[in-house]
Amino acid sequence: MALITLNGVSKAYPAPKRGAEPILAVDDVSLEVEEGSITAVIGYSGAGKSTLARLINALEPATSGRIVVDGREITALSERDLRRARLDIGMIFQQFNLLESKTVAKNVEFPLRVAGRDRGERRARVQELLDFVGLSDRSRNYPEQLSGGQKQRVGIARALATSPRILLADEATSALDPETTQEVLALLSRVNREFGVTIVIITHEMDVVRSIADHVVVMEHGRVVEQGEVYDTFSNPKQNVTRRFVRTLVSPTPPETEMQELRALHPGRLLSVRVLDGDTAQKGLEHAAADRDGLDLELIYGGVSTIQGRGFGYLLYEVTGSTPVVAEFIAAAVDDANIEEVA
Ligand SMILES: Nc1ncnc2c1ncn2[C@@H]1O[C@H](COP(=O)(O)OP(=O)(O)OP(=O)(O)O)[C@@H](O)[C@H]1O
Ligand SMILES: [Mg+2]
Repeated sequence: MALITLNGVSKAYPAPKRGAEPILAVDDVSLEVEEGSITAVIGYSGAGKSTLARLINALEPATSGRIVVDGREITALSERDLRRARLDIGMIFQQFNLLESKTVAKNVEFPLRVAGRDRGERRARVQELLDFVGLSDRSRNYPEQLSGGQKQRVGIARALATSPRILLADEATSALDPETTQEVLALLSRVNREFGVTIVIITHEMDVVRSIADHVVVMEHGRVVEQGEVYDTFSNPKQNVTRRFVRTLVSPTPPETEMQELRALHPGRLLSVRVLDGDTAQKGLEHAAADRDGLDLELIYGGVSTIQGRGFGYLLYEVTGSTPVVAEFIAAAVDDANIEEVA
């Protein structure tokens, strides 16, 4: 079931100066976020990702279109009802946005105060949340006494305080080093598994998508240009922008300078094999080569990764032997859609 549905949603900001066009930050976006999923929204800077997040949690009104969150059409709610609806969505940020003058415990307690919960309930909930994020021994510390990863764990505890069904994370790991990023992602993964919280992660880091997302939405110039399950989308990207993102993860050939060095060492004809989960193109190619006299197949470069635990990437082979044998072999090999010659 879709927990978040957007139908033809646009957001225009007034023109920055007179005579200029308004800025269409989000342009006719339709999408569904499945309940219980971890959905990543990717796109380059200015694509409209943060604006989309602010529309979903009703921090800003849409210019047109319809947004339904958890059965409520938020594009039709009064300001008072919106305030209630916002309690259903937790939010975490790149810069953590903690209250520096308040302790860790007070930060986590803050949304519970806003929601009018009584003291006993607040205390118990704060304790429970700090235990969950592994920071109960830091409850009296101030944010400045914490590392970035710890700050984000406080941010997550605070976002979960009112037991929202949805957690929106806008570049929540972009200020963290790779190891701390993985820790925070592991925590988000637990939030999803243990509490069934649906998570929407806005990011430009492919490693984030690869590690925890099951669905991906690709944005460009305010539009959603591609969306689907992460493995399907990345193993068979249809849009250039998606291909560019995938190339930061795995690529058929190494970067240009390395490729030139490789070329100098391997002047023969090159075949690139796309490796997909459960696919046999690579085995087929190696068997075919073994059956040919006077033909040699050498693996010279590989970029294989995993997405959602499934293998995906490329292998680069040099084919050597007498010219006609090589030509015939390559002509047959490229019949396989996952094999192509690299110039
Ligand atoms: N409050 C605003 N007023 C005017 N223009 C805005 C406002 N917020 C965003 N924009 C414009 O809308 C477009 C999309 O911005 P947005 O912040 O949503 O992009 P983003 O994908 O989150 O980028 P980044 O990766 O840099 O965070 C940009 O052209 C931006 O300048
Ligand atoms: Mg942004």
